[in-house]
Amino acid sequence: MRTALTELLGIEAPIVLAPMGGAVTPELAAAVSNAGGLGVIPLSYSTPDEIKSTVGEITALTDRPFGINLILEWEQRERLAAALDAGVPAISLFWGDVSELVPQAHDGGAVVFVSVGSVDEAVRAAAPGADVVVARGGRQAGMCAGRSRPLRSFRAWSTPSIPFRSSPRAG
Ligand SMILES: Cc1cc2nc3c(=O)[nH]c(=O)nc-3n(C[C@H](O)[C@H](O)[C@H](O)COP(=O)(O)O)c2cc1C
Repeated sequence: MRTALTELLGIEAPIVLAPMGGAVTPELAAAVSNAGGLGVIPLSYSTPDEIKSTVGEITALTDRPFGINLILEWEQRERLAAALDAGVPAISLFWGDVSELVPQAHDGGAVVFVSVGSVDEAVRAAAPGADVVVARGGRQAGMCAGRSRPLRSFRAWSTPSIPFRSSPRAG
């Protein structure tokens, strides 16, 4: 199946593994990528050395694109730099100010996903040039960075140039 998302990432199916800390292993991320989707592993707490070794584990299991996820509740520039140095092709960001990290990821050659919980957050993700805006559901395991205008109005607002991925329970 070909969509804007598959073309952007060079994958076969427009399926992205939801990053889940404590649940996604390198094996699971690689399996999703090997199946034609995009495996995404959260590395928000890892040291730069751990990031490099985890990325090495994934690239030993797949030669397909994959991503890492960082929660921006705290400083993540060093982790992002380590991931980019290791050649991670896709970066998923959530829960914080993405204005500096989106250009940093682009400079490192990565495609950037930003997950959002409101239209205002989506607008802030698009401003620095996020490649994909991910609309999350209201529950999202309690991980919600804001509720303002409901996300169902975002598709009408968004430009066709930004692939819009809706998670199954996006409001
Ligand atoms: C156990 C668990 C851990 C999660 N960890 C992360 C995480 O580290 N980073 C992140 O961006 N989202 C995390 N999430 C959120 C999921 O990636 C998912 O996007 C969210 O549940 C929204 O999906 P929904 O809209 O289909 O409900 C986590 C969710 C669960 C259930």
